[in-house]
Amino acid sequence: MKILFATSELAPWVKTGGLGEVSGTLPAALRAHGVDVRILVPAYPEILRSFPNATEIAQPNRLGGLLPAPMLREAISPDGTPLLLLDYPPYFKRPGSPYLGPEGRDWLDNHLRFGLLSRIAAWLGSDASTLAWRPDIVHCNDWQTGLAPVYLNYLPGRSAKSLFTLHNLAFQGLFDHASLFELGLPDAAWGIDGVEFYGYLSFLKAGLQHADAITTVSPTYAREIQTEAEGMGMAGILRHRSEKLSGILNGIDTNIWNPASDQHLYQTYSARRLDGKTTNKAELQVELGLEPRPDLPLFGVVSRLTEQKGLDLLLEAAPQVFKLPAQLAVLGSGTPELQQGWAALAHKHRGLCAVTIGFDEALAHRIEAGADIFVMPSRFEPCGLNQMYSLRYGTPPVVRATGGLADTVIDAVDEKHGNGFVFGPATTAALLQALQRATTAWRDPDRWRKLQKRGMARDSSWEEAARQYVELYQRL
Ligand code: ADP
Ligand code: GLC
Repeated sequence: MKILFATSELAPWVKTGGLGEVSGTLPAALRAHGVDVRILVPAYPEILRSFPNATEIAQPNRLGGLLPAPMLREAISPDGTPLLLLDYPPYFKRPGSPYLGPEGRDWLDNHLRFGLLSRIAAWLGSDASTLAWRPDIVHCNDWQTGLAPVYLNYLPGRSAKSLFTLHNLAFQGLFDHASLFELGLPDAAWGIDGVEFYGYLSFLKAGLQHADAITTVSPTYAREIQTEAEGMGMAGILRHRSEKLSGILNGIDTNIWNPASDQHLYQTYSARRLDGKTTNKAELQVELGLEPRPDLPLFGVVSRLTEQKGLDLLLEAAPQVFKLPAQLAVLGSGTPELQQGWAALAHKHRGLCAVTIGFDEALAHRIEAGADIFVMPSRFEPCGLNQMYSLRYGTPPVVRATGGLADTVIDAVDEKHGNGFVFGPATTAALLQALQRATTAWRDPDRWRKLQKRGMARDSSWEEAARQYVELYQRL
């Protein structure tokens, strides 16, 4: 079975969140199941630097509209997965985030940049391709590749099937009507059952409308997004296509996220040697300028600082958290308001609160290991990866009951299966109550160890998800 996995992010080179992490780890798990997966990704500078000898394998042209003729290069990633690098320097040789310019605003030509990515994914899955390798299925991820199923529909000849995986409904890729022509799409594609969404062209809707199958990254999110409350304008389409929609819970790379071998930690540890966690906490307190207090619970956060993640709720609850008393270590970047709010809080509560604004992979590992309790009060969460890292690192998470959080974390009231703390309403009061419950449990060492061990024993690997994707591929 040949699968083209098309994505706009690829860890460890280019990652703004979970999409990059999933793209960097799921394909290898699929390959272990005998699937011939190749990854199509833009040749960003960070990637080209790692593969300076990537060979030219094709130069697709006449792609329609204003789309240029890029170069396709081939390389092999360290885990053995073949990479198809979409090389067009005017589009992708840019500094920083894949989506934003230096002022933090979307690049003005994002429709062409990711339109090209979608178009090349379709080219590879069509008769026009000059490569010997032809995918059976083009597996698209999020709006950035949402046009691929549309192009596949309109291309002549025999073309691959398409699967569209939805990692986040909040990012919809909305552009002017004029982009229809620029992207080389026919007028027939415009319309309520096409790519049109309230007068705009939506890459996301395009994918949802035209893909042969749709998945999202947890079963609960798959249900939630079919309701008006959580469907972000797409509930109708999703209900209409509900027979094609399923939820496959993400896994994590259990080699990268393994406290027993993690090179970023001050000391490695495991469920049987949990003492190492104490060292990590003490060293993390020193590293972050927190008071060296083994007697206080340390709450950890690694997150985008956005409304989705509910970090405004935690910001509001924080003064009460310090009165528990407890400490807080936050790593993240996001909206200017939340960054300022968090920085100001840390300034005011030195010794109890440490805030690091930025993206820091190594520190993320040390917070997972050094914190006692992890906090993820998301308003919505398609899957969420950090709660799974936390479970594995013996750092029971406090989460809101939504999406993938609800599918991975079991509240401690269940004394047999509980592995964390779950709260309902997206309010400061409900969050605070859960943080209090976690603090009380932490103060009871026997109970706490059991909670930690249950979380550490959970299988968060890609194994089950890979099996389900293979089954779905086969059905397609
Ligand atoms: P989302 O993709 O919505 O941001 P996920 O939980 O799926 O949420 O994935 C987030 C990923 O990005 C995780 O691997 C997390 O560790 C990482 N991450 C988020 N913010 C940071 C940060 N500031 N520094 C390092 N890693 C981060
Ligand atoms: C998105 C979601 C997150 C999910 C990730 C990977 O970024 O916000 O919940 O874990 O994609 O699928």
